[in-house]
Amino acid sequence: MTGGEPTVGAAIRAALLTADPQAKAMAARKVARDWRLGRLAFAFGEAMPERPARPPAPELLPPSRMPRRGRGQSERGRIALWHALGHIEFVAIDLALDIAGRFGAEMGRGFVTDFLGVAADEAMHFGLIDRHLRAMGSHYGALPAHDGLWEAAHDTRHDVAARLAVVPMVLEARGLDVTPATLDRVRAGGDERGARILERILDDEIRHVRFGATHFDSCAQLRQVNAADLWKSLVSRHFRGAIKPPFNDSARLAAGLSRDLYGEVAMPQGAG
Ligand SMILES: [Fe+2]
Ligand SMILES: [Fe+2]
Repeated sequence: MTGGEPTVGAAIRAALLTADPQAKAMAARKVARDWRLGRLAFAFGEAMPERPARPPAPELLPPSRMPRRGRGQSERGRIALWHALGHIEFVAIDLALDIAGRFGAEMGRGFVTDFLGVAADEAMHFGLIDRHLRAMGSHYGALPAHDGLWEAAHDTRHDVAARLAVVPMVLEARGLDVTPATLDRVRAGGDERGARILERILDDEIRHVRFGATHFDSCAQLRQVNAADLWKSLVSRHFRGAIKPPFNDSARLAAGLSRDLYGEVAMPQGAG
């Protein structure tokens, strides 16, 4: 790189290092837009940060110390649910930025385009949820949140195939499985606006998982190994949780994940 042309790597890094939630969401959408409009050079001068910047609130707790979320439709329970969903989307912004910035040079322009598109979607999801929380008299940061999500990313920072295997193909795919039941519960509670937000998110997440599965397949081809075997070995090495039914098979299939792939590593229903 010569001259002062801004690079996509530097823009991604700056968004990762933005702590304020609204500012990070805006920065993510701006990087995606600038990249799409050809305003950023395909260059990655600096390393991505070990950890992205986070705001002072929410307080981050290990999953075991998270207060239990009450069941039912109490106002407090509803706020806790949306706060937890908002946190997932907030961390998802950083996950998408990090994969694009860390592995973009190796994986190419199409990969950067796909995952910056994901980052912009996650920023939009976060914004919708934060607005919904505010309509309920709360906001993102009002409650503690769990700190487990970034760990999967950190553990796979040296291998793009491992990152794709765990983040889009396990964690985001898990979102496809659990969202329909949440959506039904939200709708049954009379929160139609919330239900529409979740429908929107579910549609977008199918695409995110599909990007993950597609780029994972290219990694496997490049390494001349069977994609299913590579996925299973990376998941067993890098993912400590269980792959558990019930699965949303139709959404998974739409995302390019076949039952042959995850059916074999799945624990029997009710186990774990
Ligand atoms: Fe999302
Ligand atoms: Fe996503």
